[in-house]
Amino acid sequence: MLIREATEEDWPAIWPFMRGILAAGETYTYDRDAAEDAVRASWMLPLPGRAFVAVDDEGTVLGTSKVSRNHAGGGSHIANGSYMVDPAHSGRGVGRALGAHSLEWAAAAGFRAMQFNAVVETNTHAVALWQSLGFTVVATLPEGFEHPRHGFVGLHIMYRKL
Ligand SMILES: CC(C)(COP(=O)(O)OP(=O)(O)OC[C@H]1O[C@@H](n2cnc3c(N)ncnc32)[C@H](O)[C@@H]1OP(=O)(O)O)[C@@H](O)C(=O)NCCC(=O)NCCS
Repeated sequence: MLIREATEEDWPAIWPFMRGILAAGETYTYDRDAAEDAVRASWMLPLPGRAFVAVDDEGTVLGTSKVSRNHAGGGSHIANGSYMVDPAHSGRGVGRALGAHSLEWAAAAGFRAMQFNAVVETNTHAVALWQSLGFTVVATLPEGFEHPRHGFVGLHIMYRKL
């Protein structure tokens, strides 16, 4: 597996699985029917943000990540990361590799910490994955997310120094 910067040419491979993840409405705070153009603009960020893809030996896109400033101005030393793996390729270490890569990239770019603003507490695989990469839950917004099956559940803010 190779992790490299995403290009506009990667988008047609990213959007089908991203659309499915967003439509499921279980893990992200995007609108479930968010328009492709709006999602692309929010994911394929210009500098100082950056989007990445994990690809296999054939060049198939397995998953994607993005790293950006979590806030501007006085908060811009903290990075934010987002991750989506094609369900057809989940459970094979792609998410872990994208997470580890983004931490290395953010540290090399000079960020001092990484923050996740909205990790749905029922997304237990993701929560455990981020904890295993050194993140802690610093706060949980009570009933911060309306899950399509579980109803109102907590939304974690997770944090790790770089
Ligand atoms: C969360 C996500 C990024 C994880 O990516 P992934 O490639 O499936 O995860 P990995 O294969 O790297 O596995 C990471 C860990 O989670 C565990 N895991 C992942 N999926 C699992 C599953 N369905 N059942 C049990 N364990 C699972 C793995 O065992 C692994 O633990 P290990 O490394 O200690 O063995 C991916 O499932 C995803 O894109 N989900 C939808 C969007 C999302 O939730 N993004 C994150 C928002 S915070």
